[in-house]
Amino acid sequence: MNTVMSSTAPEKPLLTVLSGKKPKRPPFWFMRQAGRYLSEYREMRARAGSFLDLVYAPEMAAEVTLQPVKRFGTDGAILFSDILIVPHALGQTLDFKHGEGPVLDPITKTSDLSRLSLDQLHKIAGPVYETVRQVKADMPPHVALIGFSGGLWTVASYMVAGRGGDDQRAAKRWAYGDPEGFGQLLALLEDATVAYLLEQVKAGADVLQIFDSWAGNLPEPMFTDLVIAPTSHLVTRVKEAAPHIPIIGFPRGAGPLLGRYVAETGVDAVSLDTGMCLTYADETLPRNFPTQGNLDPQMVVAGGPMMEREMARILTSFHSRPHIFNLGHGFVPETPVAHVEALVGRLHDWQDTPA
Ligand code: CP3
Repeated sequence: MNTVMSSTAPEKPLLTVLSGKKPKRPPFWFMRQAGRYLSEYREMRARAGSFLDLVYAPEMAAEVTLQPVKRFGTDGAILFSDILIVPHALGQTLDFKHGEGPVLDPITKTSDLSRLSLDQLHKIAGPVYETVRQVKADMPPHVALIGFSGGLWTVASYMVAGRGGDDQRAAKRWAYGDPEGFGQLLALLEDATVAYLLEQVKAGADVLQIFDSWAGNLPEPMFTDLVIAPTSHLVTRVKEAAPHIPIIGFPRGAGPLLGRYVAETGVDAVSLDTGMCLTYADETLPRNFPTQGNLDPQMVVAGGPMMEREMARILTSFHSRPHIFNLGHGFVPETPVAHVEALVGRLHDWQDTPA
């Protein structure tokens, strides 16, 4: 019975690409596809009260996860949550202040680590796993459910600064001045993130993405120690327990370190940021290694012929390798929905020319 069901299960184009093959039309989803640019999201968030209340309310979070899937027919549904749920579930205070972004009570030295603990991790993050289960139950079968976490360096940089938007100076000072102490923070985060991702897989995530949004702007040896090594540990441990789940890495700003990131972390695919040169990426990455990206989110704010030309350039550049169309970073709140609709119309109609 099970065998029959799985052999007739509809294909998920996103998983086809991640297995190194090319479906007829390149699949697409968008980073930050759920959010403030959608009126139905703003309505739900107002009903929940705050962003965190929404994340921890599985029924509403599941609906928000599916809003862009229903509206645009995306091939992926990204779990509605945040990379900062892991520090929150470790016991760090977290608040999303209006117009200010996240605010945390900073962890800046080894003695502060005693404020964090793995004990309540699954209890606090439990509603997020429940969201995954509910999305999975309601989702069209050809859509892939994408679970995620932040990269360890990126999450640590928020934990140490207590907010976003600086240049990671606080985390850099700790990491450069006391590598052993900072290593303890990364080790704790690694344990928490492995456990958090594996629970998402158990709950039904088909794919995982690691958002290392602040991977750029590090000297090469520090990129090795703070991005490549922690990501490689994370990927190895998740794959030990869930070898069948593809992992997409997003080392934003990696630039010429892209090739090393891909060769040394063990990710199954890489999401390219807006500034990545496509010829460079294509020449650097192994043949048939799946890529994702990388339309500038501001192109979708502008809309019009330039956006459509850029979409076509990206798809043409990657037409000989398995590629998932996406943005080079997340949608911004001022994105007009009509421009997303125009983009999505073109994506649905796109035909890859034979290689
Ligand atoms: O559509 C989706 O991608 C939904 C899930 C999602 C959110 N955040 C929801 C969210 C994902 C995958 C993230 C990732 C995330 N969160 C990253 C990595 C990707 C990136 O953008 O670089 C980072 C750095 C964060 C941390 C974070 N969360 C910040 C800095 C902020 C405030 C600024 C902002 O972009 O809004 C958030 C809040 C947040 N996370 C919102 C959403 C929908 C907005 C909350 C609101 O409704 O006010």
